[in-house]
Amino acid sequence: MRLGVGAAIPAKARPKVSVHFLEPGAATLLRLAGPTARVVAPGVALVHADTLSWLATVPDRSVHAIVTDPPYGLVEYGDVDHGKLRGGKGGVWRIPPTLDGVQRAPVPRFTVLGPKEIEALRRFFAASAWEWMRVLVPGGHVFLASNPLLSTAAFAAIGEAGFEKRGEIIRLVTTLRGGDRPKGAHAEFPDVSVMPRSAWEPWGLFRKPMEGTVAENLRRWGTGGLRRRSAEEPFRDVIPCAPARGAERAIAPHPSLKPQRFLRQLVRAALPVGTGIVLDPFAGSGSTLAAAAHLGVHAIGVERDAAYVELAVVAVPKLAALALR
Ligand SMILES: C[S@@+](CC[C@H](N)C(=O)[O-])C[C@H]1O[C@@H](n2cnc3c(N)ncnc32)[C@H](O)[C@@H]1O
Repeated sequence: MRLGVGAAIPAKARPKVSVHFLEPGAATLLRLAGPTARVVAPGVALVHADTLSWLATVPDRSVHAIVTDPPYGLVEYGDVDHGKLRGGKGGVWRIPPTLDGVQRAPVPRFTVLGPKEIEALRRFFAASAWEWMRVLVPGGHVFLASNPLLSTAAFAAIGEAGFEKRGEIIRLVTTLRGGDRPKGAHAEFPDVSVMPRSAWEPWGLFRKPMEGTVAENLRRWGTGGLRRRSAEEPFRDVIPCAPARGAERAIAPHPSLKPQRFLRQLVRAALPVGTGIVLDPFAGSGSTLAAAAHLGVHAIGVERDAAYVELAVVAVPKLAALALR
């Protein structure tokens, strides 16, 4: 049977798994998410908390996959620079000039990060990865959004926590990063750009070490592999997908919104037998949660910023309901 991109996983289409693997129910989900969690869609909970504080409350071997788009400058979602963005001032955020009357979205300038900031980033990812290693079941995958400037530091920290690197998903996407002529010398060096115009986004793909073979791990934990796109087609590591625009951006105006077309493919691949709990420890406007809700699988999101939590509460059901062409 062919399941289209991002298609929901009907119960009867799920492969039969061993009796050892118990599908987590709503009660398990709510117990994990904690008393302050809000249910934003059936089987999908959102927690307003700092991610590391929340993770410390979660028992070992509780979730089946992590799909997340973390902060990369660490400062870009901190009070100072995020406050500047909200005030229209920029800070680490580059507010691009209007193009043909269209206001383009701000992007964080990761080129301003020096060795100290990159070391702080590595430490933050290491602390997160140790917790992810603990709360994932054996064979659970992590899909980690990144960018070509900082992926080396971030991915090294995940590896140091004991994850196996399983590859990278390349999202083909034309961005506004790079491609500029030298600042203040455009006319002098018209044929030079300082960096390439970025046309791809790397997502690290990691797996917690399994117990036994893939088949044994799948039977016991429901994890260890990636769900195929169809009987004929495995999940692939290059996915062309334009930035979220139009209806999606209107529903969820978060500065780092990831598109449903892309996230539905990752969330679907992340649960190889079609059940389990997906965690997004940096939920933003809830785009990963919305993809999970669309697919009919359980998910928990954690977001520290109160305004984004309120945005996600409204956005998740609307994003989940969007029909993509
Ligand atoms: C890159 S954005 C994710 C946006 C998301 N991909 C979306 O489509 O809406 C990262 C998010 O992590 C949140 N964040 C940053 N530090 C956090 C922390 N320590 N705990 C929880 N959330 C945090 C930020 O407020 C921001 O919304």
